[in-house]
Amino acid sequence: AMRMILDTDPGNGVPGADVDDGLAIGLALRSPEIELEAITVVAGNVAVDRGVRGALEVLEAAGATHVPVHRGASRPLVQDPTAWRARLDGRRDEESAREHWRHLPVSRTALAADPTPAARVLVDRVDERPGEITVLAIGPLTNIATAMAIDPEWSQKIKQLVVMAGAFDVPNVLHELNAAYDPEATHVVLNSGAPLLIVPLDVTLRTFMRLGDVDRLDAAGTPLATYLGRTARPWITWLAERFGEDGCALHDPLALAALLDPAVIGTRTARVDVELRGRLTRGRMVSWDDEVLRGDLELPDLSPVLIADRVDNDLFMPLLLDRLTS
Ligand code: BDR
Ligand code: CA
Repeated sequence: AMRMILDTDPGNGVPGADVDDGLAIGLALRSPEIELEAITVVAGNVAVDRGVRGALEVLEAAGATHVPVHRGASRPLVQDPTAWRARLDGRRDEESAREHWRHLPVSRTALAADPTPAARVLVDRVDERPGEITVLAIGPLTNIATAMAIDPEWSQKIKQLVVMAGAFDVPNVLHELNAAYDPEATHVVLNSGAPLLIVPLDVTLRTFMRLGDVDRLDAAGTPLATYLGRTARPWITWLAERFGEDGCALHDPLALAALLDPAVIGTRTARVDVELRGRLTRGRMVSWDDEVLRGDLELPDLSPVLIADRVDNDLFMPLLLDRLTS
C-alpha cells in the first residue's frame, strides 16, 4: 500500500467554500491502494479550526475514525492573510450563500483532533519511514514548508510530494489560492529539491462535477456519499447562480487521482519558482521548460519537477465516482 499523509484545508459545509478537499479525503479513504497515515490541516479555504472540523466530519461519515487529524498553521509564514481571508470568509455572509447552504445540517462530529501539531507529524512520520511516505498537499503549503524548515533532509526522505497549486497559463486567472496564500512557503517547497508533481489550475479547471454526479452520490446512500453530496450540492448551485457555471472543478481529487492512476494526467518537465516581489504577480508561479535557452538572465538554480498538463476525464470521473459511491 502507498503510505500517505494528506495536507488539506477542507471547507466542506461552509457557505461559499470549496468542497473539493472533502471529496479528495473521501477518495483517499475509499482507495485500497492508500494507507492514510494522517491528515494535517492548514489555513486556506477556511480558517484552520474549521478545516480540522471538516476533516473530522469526512472521517466520521466514512467510519474512518482511526485516521488522526492534526491542526497545522493558522496563518502564512510571512504574508498578512487579511485580504485573502476577507475575500474567502466574506462569502460566508453573502445572502446568496446563506440561502444555498440553508439545508445543510449543523455538524456535530464527536471526533477530536490529535494534539500533536501538523508539522511535527509530517517530520516524524517521514523520519520513521524514509523513502516510503507520499505527501499530498491540497491546501496552501505552510505546513509543508515548516516541515522542511524543521528537518532539512525531509525533502530527500519523502517518496513523493504531490501539490495542487499554481496557475501557469489560465485566461483571466492571476492567482491560484494554494500558491498565493503563502508565497514564501511555496518558494521553500519549489526550491527544496523534493521529488515534486505539481497539479495546477491549468488542468484542474478542465475537470467538472455536475448536479447529475451529486445525484449519483445521493443514490449510493452510504453515509460518506450522502455527506459529500450534501456539501457539494449547495456549492454547485451557488456557483451556478453567482458565476453561471453548471458544475464545480475537482482540483484536489484530481491531484490524488494522478497517484491512483498515472494515466489520468499527462506531464511535462520544467523548472518552477514563484514570484515574491511583483506588485501584481506576487504569489504567481513561473515555469521554464527544460529546453528553453536560459540566455544570460540570472535564473534561479532549480531542480526539474513534473507539471500535470493534460487530463483524461474519461478515466478520472469513473475512478472518482465509482469509489465514492462504493
Ligand atoms: C485550490 O483552492 C481551493 O479552492 C481548492 O480546495 C484547491 O485546493 C484551487 O485553487
Ligand atoms: Ca484545497
